Order: sequence, then structure tokens, then C-alpha cells
Amino acid sequence: MTGAVFTVRQIFALGVATALLLAIPATGQEAAAAQVAAPPSASAGAAKMLARTPPMGWNSWNKFACNIDEEIIRRTADAMVTSGMRDAGYEYVVIDDCWHGTRDADGFITADPKRFPSGIKALADYVHSKGLKFGIYSDAGRKTCGGRPGSQGYEYQDALTYARWGVDYLKYDWCNTGTRNAEEAYTLMSDALRSTGRDIVFSLCEWGNNKPWLWSPKVGHLWRTTGDITDKWEGKHDYSWGVLNIVDMNEPLWPYAGPGHWNDPDMLEVGNGGLTDTQYRSHFSLWAIMAAPLIAGNDISTMNEATKAILLNKEIIAVNQDALGVQGRRIWKEGDREIWMKPLTGGRRALLLFNRGNAPAVIGFDWEQLNYPPKLRTRIRDLWLHKNLPARAQSYSATVAPHASHMLVLEP
Ligand code: GLA
Repeated sequence: MTGAVFTVRQIFALGVATALLLAIPATGQEAAAAQVAAPPSASAGAAKMLARTPPMGWNSWNKFACNIDEEIIRRTADAMVTSGMRDAGYEYVVIDDCWHGTRDADGFITADPKRFPSGIKALADYVHSKGLKFGIYSDAGRKTCGGRPGSQGYEYQDALTYARWGVDYLKYDWCNTGTRNAEEAYTLMSDALRSTGRDIVFSLCEWGNNKPWLWSPKVGHLWRTTGDITDKWEGKHDYSWGVLNIVDMNEPLWPYAGPGHWNDPDMLEVGNGGLTDTQYRSHFSLWAIMAAPLIAGNDISTMNEATKAILLNKEIIAVNQDALGVQGRRIWKEGDREIWMKPLTGGRRALLLFNRGNAPAVIGFDWEQLNYPPKLRTRIRDLWLHKNLPARAQSYSATVAPHASHMLVLEP
């Protein structure tokens, strides 16, 4: 026998390293991710998969609703660059409802001439000139939720118009759709977008009414799982839900998310003023660990330092954007205390210790809950404190303030 001759010491060293690797059993999520991450089918196109990680960007609705104009969109695009948002990964600048004017004599949709006098093409060009991508909004019904012209009956014509304008992302709403079949309506627009030959991320906004997670992965890249978010911690408010309610609706859907197709628990409210900074940090942490699209919904041009520190926390963004593409889930809950886990590349785990209660709470976990061997010595990084905690094995616990979240990455 030649070649492979090892000393006892080498064999021991190799053995420990291999044993460590082999001893980390994959979680069900990691196994599922391995399948999802396998080469995409011909239709998806290996080199062309859009939204391989959850889309990131900004959308006008949560802050401005229908009070939008081209000046706000330009100012936002500028601020995306100067604030560092673009460089942190926020890519799409999306105009939500109410940009529309009327259809012209040939049926082509036009922009509201008062609010968007330069037209949408010029605005898209401006956004692109900033190194950002441009998104727009329409609706599968005859009218949008804001009463503007919808795309029903004009799907191919609108898709063509968007492609001519340079649209990179379409959010497609579900108001005024009557008895339309959701899967058919969204598939029609999906086909129309594809027929343009332009890469357009397709965001389904059907509020989870027809279980879009079951049929949307082949239709679009993200789908809303709930009604609208509102800038409140908890409860139902007219047609909208607080952050905690949305979290509880979106969490069980984790098996349906993966590269190119994501559950969308709606856009961020961080910085809009309805929550405390502690609650906003939890909101952002939960969206990150749920592999949710990170679409900021505040006024980027006037945001304060606390808001910036949340939206620009690159360590937390990295958890959201991890290439394994697995949606994290709640692995333990007792009363108001919760532990969430998201498997990451390299056998790492993101952990979220979340306290919903009004009093400080001790929250802890064992390595077994993470599918780690108990003796595995593990590095621990705190992503809000931006510091390494002492490496350890077996278990970890900490006291978490009311409504707060500790977000960690464990690395064997
Ligand atoms: C619906 C959507 C929101 C927003 C508004 C616009 O409510 O769910 O996200 O787009 O319409 O009118």
C-alpha cells in the first residue's frame, strides 16, 4: 500500500475533524433546503433564477399610501444610496398603488400626469442610474385597491408597457377580482411578464386567501401570506394586523419557502413610529429569521439613527440572505418566551431568543434542540451587540428584556 500512510496523531486529528462534521446531523430544514437548492428546473433556468435570496428594497405604501409623486421616489432613490441602504443589499425601489392615470385610446396605461409629469420611464431610468432596480404595482381586478385602473383584460399589454419602461419588479394585488380564480389570474400575468423576455420579479399580493404557497412557486417569486401589516405591535385593526399576529400566521408556512420562492409576511414598518425601537428590532429580527422579503416601508430620506441602525444591521441582513435559503421557524415556546432557529450555510445556526412578555425573561436552549452534539464547542456571535460571546458547548441562556430579541449565530 502506498500513499495513505498516517501517523497516529494525524489519524486522531483527522478523526476528530471528520467526526465533528459527520456528527452534525442535518435538520429536516437543511435536508429540504438541499433538495430545493438543487439545480432549478429548465423553466427556472439555472443561471437566471430571480430572487435566489429574499428580495430586498423599499416600497412607498406603508409610509405614503396614495400620497406619492415622482419627487418622493427620486428623493428615496437618492437616500437609498447616501444612507448606505443600497450597499447593504436593498435593491428594488417599488412604487405601490396610485401612480396611475387613465388608459389611452389604445388601452395603454399611463401615469398620473400631475404626480408623475416626467412619466414612469424617466423615473425608472433615474432609479437605474443610481444602481438600483425599479418596481411597480398593479392589480388582477378591474380596479386596484386604491380605485385606479387594474390589469384585468390588459395583462399582456401592461406587461409589455412595464418591460418598455424598464420595470424589474411587479407587485400584483387582489382587489376587485370578483369571482376570478386566483391561480389562473396570477398565472396569466406571470406568463405575460415572461413573454416580454425581461427579468421581472413577480410579487403576488393575494393576502393568503387561496393558499398561494401551494401553487405560487411556479407562478411568482414571493407571495403575501396575510392581510396588510399595520404599524402596531399586536391585534387586528380594520383590514390589517399587528406584527405579532402576522408572525403567527407566517411561521407555520416555513416549509414552502426556498430560493426563488418566498413567503411574504408584508413589508417592514421599521421607522414609521408606531412601535418602540426595541419592538422594531424584534420586528426586523423576526422578518430576517423568517427569510421574509426585506422591503423597507419608511421615509428613507428622513430616518433617524436608531432606524438606520436597525435597517442597516448587516449581520442580521446576512442571516436573511443566507444562501441555504431556509425559512427559520419557532423551535420552542413557553408562554411569552420563544426560541427560533434558522439553519445557515456551513452548519451554522441563527437563533432568536424572543420575549413577547411585559417582564424580563430568561430564555435558553440546549444544543440538542439544534441537532448539535452536546459537547460540540461552538462560537457565538451576538448580532445586535455586534460582539463575540465566549465559545461554549451544551447550552446557552440569557435574560431578554420585554418585547426584545437576542439574535445569535452559532458556529461549530
Ligand atoms: C392592498 C395591499 C397593500 C397595498 C394596498 C394599495 O391593501 O395588500 O399592500 O398595496 O392594497 O392599495
